[in-house]
Order: sequence, then structure tokens, then C-alpha cells
Amino acid sequence: MTIAMFDYLGELDEIGPDIMGAMERVVRSGRLILGPEVERFEAASSAYLGGGHGVGVASGTDALTVALLAKGIGPGDEVITVPNTATPTATAIARTGATPVFCDVDPHTGLMDVECVERALTPRTKAVVPVHLYGNVVDVPRLMQRTNGRGLFVLEDCAQSLGAQLGNRHAGTFGHAAAFSFYPTKNLGAYGDAGLCFTRDGELADAMRQVRSYGYQQRDYAVRVGVNSRLDELQAAILNVKLARLERDVARRRELADLYDAELPPQCERFGVQPGVRHGRHLYVVRVENRAELRAALSERGVQTGVHYPHPIHHMPAFAAPQPPCLPHAEHLAQCVLSLPLHPRLTDDDVRAVCEALSEMVQGKASSRGAC
Ligand SMILES: Cc1ncc(COP(=O)(O)O)c(C=O)c1O
Repeated sequence: MTIAMFDYLGELDEIGPDIMGAMERVVRSGRLILGPEVERFEAASSAYLGGGHGVGVASGTDALTVALLAKGIGPGDEVITVPNTATPTATAIARTGATPVFCDVDPHTGLMDVECVERALTPRTKAVVPVHLYGNVVDVPRLMQRTNGRGLFVLEDCAQSLGAQLGNRHAGTFGHAAAFSFYPTKNLGAYGDAGLCFTRDGELADAMRQVRSYGYQQRDYAVRVGVNSRLDELQAAILNVKLARLERDVARRRELADLYDAELPPQCERFGVQPGVRHGRHLYVVRVENRAELRAALSERGVQTGVHYPHPIHHMPAFAAPQPPCLPHAEHLAQCVLSLPLHPRLTDDDVRAVCEALSEMVQGKASSRGAC
């Protein structure tokens, strides 16, 4: 028995003919880059988010980079983000020439701590990148309010949060812009790399379109230094097929997460979710004391697990400042977070089997609640 973290082949059994049909249509169309499938996906994904401008790019990392470049962020600027995110959040900032500055997170939610952002502000701060980690939603309205008046660009990293909401609005619609990833394991996964910049600002969207394609305002005429990061027609056609299933998939993720919430032992400590948040449930992550041991024991029983993320970015050689800040909550989380299998094709019995295995393993080991 294997309970996997991700199962795109199972998905293909369900939607194979639609995927193959879409791919054949593209291959026979004569348009492979930035054609009608990309336009359709940009329009449909923006409509899903409640209206705005979508700009298809080659990956989530590029979506962050392109948005920052379009806003004119570059050398000499500082951009604040968190250290317990995927490395590409910081990579994208550094690729613009700006310096990533790391702030600590709220230990209850694992998300950006707005007070810590305020303490990290300097006259060089030009942008903040809150990360909606695991599908949970940062209180971006509060972040905007607290940093209001400083002219900061707020770019939401939504790589893990498609389908998540705060109140009746989607994550990604609170800041000035947002970046989405369609890496295959994401809530909406392509069959390769793909990403999307999103904004409600028409001028910024125009700049994003220029940056993604050599800085061109029109063919062979660059008005800025851009990159080559275009969403291709094949990935867009696949995403168009899968976007129609997104809400159903996220609803199933939520059901499975609720089951984990109900059945896991208290030694697997859950993250807090603020009132008003509809979690996107991209990853189901708990905090445990003896992570390595539990992972090995689960693996022996055929249960795959992950760690998101084992190294706080401010300590990585690529990003460490000469004197890295002390960010105790993020550093602590790196020691104890454990991701359990969560994808729409898991059965209730799969989740119960993981919960039972964990209950047996931790039984008698910790008498107190809150293992980490
Ligand atoms: C939080 C976060 N930001 C950015 C990215 C980068 O996305 P991509 O892998 O599509 O470049 C990821 C993907 O792993 C992510 O999880």
C-alpha cells in the first residue's frame, strides 16, 4: 500500500481524453506560444479571482520576478518576506537585484507577522511579499493598513493558495499584485511549469506583459529590459481543462483536511486559521516533536510525507546576511513541520489510515498537548 503525496496519474485516468484532446488541438493549431489558449486562461483565471488582469508566465518564480520587475523593483531596494517559504520566493526577489529581508512569523499560524514586518522596514524598503503558506491566508488588508502611507508594493505569493479566501475575496486580490504557480503538485497543476501574474491595475498589467516578453511594447521594440517568460499554449490548454475542476478539487481537499483535523492525535499540533479564512488546503502540515522518527515509521507503512520547509531561508548560503537576524519562530518551525498526504484523489480511508498510524506511533510518547 502506498499513500502518496501527489497523484497526477490517477487524475489522468479521470480526465485523460480531455487533456489529450486539448493537447492535440494546440499541436494542430499552428500557435504554440501566447495564443488563444493563453488568452482564454488569463481571462478565465482572472474571472475566477473576481476580475482583473492575468498575465501568463512560465512559472510561479517568474510570476514573482516579473511582477517585481514590472513595478521597477531593483538594485538598492529591499523587499521583506518570510524565511519559512519555498526558496523561490527569495530567489525571485534576488533576481531583480533587490535584497530579500526576512521577518519572523506568527507561531500560531506560521504566517507573516505584521508587527515583525514593521520592525524590518527601512528607508530602502520598496515591497513586501506575504506568502499564503500551505493555502492559509495572511491578513493582507491589515498588512496594507499598517504599512499604509509608505508607498510599499504588496505582492502576494499565492503559489500555494489558489482557491483560498478571506471573507468573500480570493487570496491574491488584497495586495497590488499576486503571483500564482501551476507547478504540477499545486491546487491547479499544469503538466510542466507554468505561472500567472495577477493585478487589478491595468498599467501594471501592461508592464507585466512587456517584462514577460523581452520588454517589448510591440514586436522587436523593447521599452524596458525584460525576460523571456511566456506561458505556452500546451500548458494553458491543460490549465483550461483543469480550471473547470478546481472548485471541486479544493472542496475535496477541505473535506480531507477536516478529517485529519478530527482524527489526528493531539501530539500532531495543527496550525491556527484566522476567522474568516477559507483555507485552500494545498498542504496539510502539522508540528511534531520527533519528525525524523515519525517520517521513517510512516514510510515503512507506505505513507509518503514531506517537509515544507526544512531550512529557514535566512540561514541558506545563497541568502544569509553577514549577520543573519534571529527569527526564532520560523527557525523552530523548520525543525518540526511535517506535511501529510493531501490531494483530491485520496480516500477517507487513506486519511484514516495515516491518522491511525500516527496515533499508534505517538501513543504514550508525549503526555502533554502541543508537541512542538
Ligand atoms: C510559496 C511558493 N512560492 C513560489 C513558488 C515557485 O513556484 P514555481 O515552482 O512554479 O516556480 C513555489 C513553488 O514551489 C511556492 O510554493
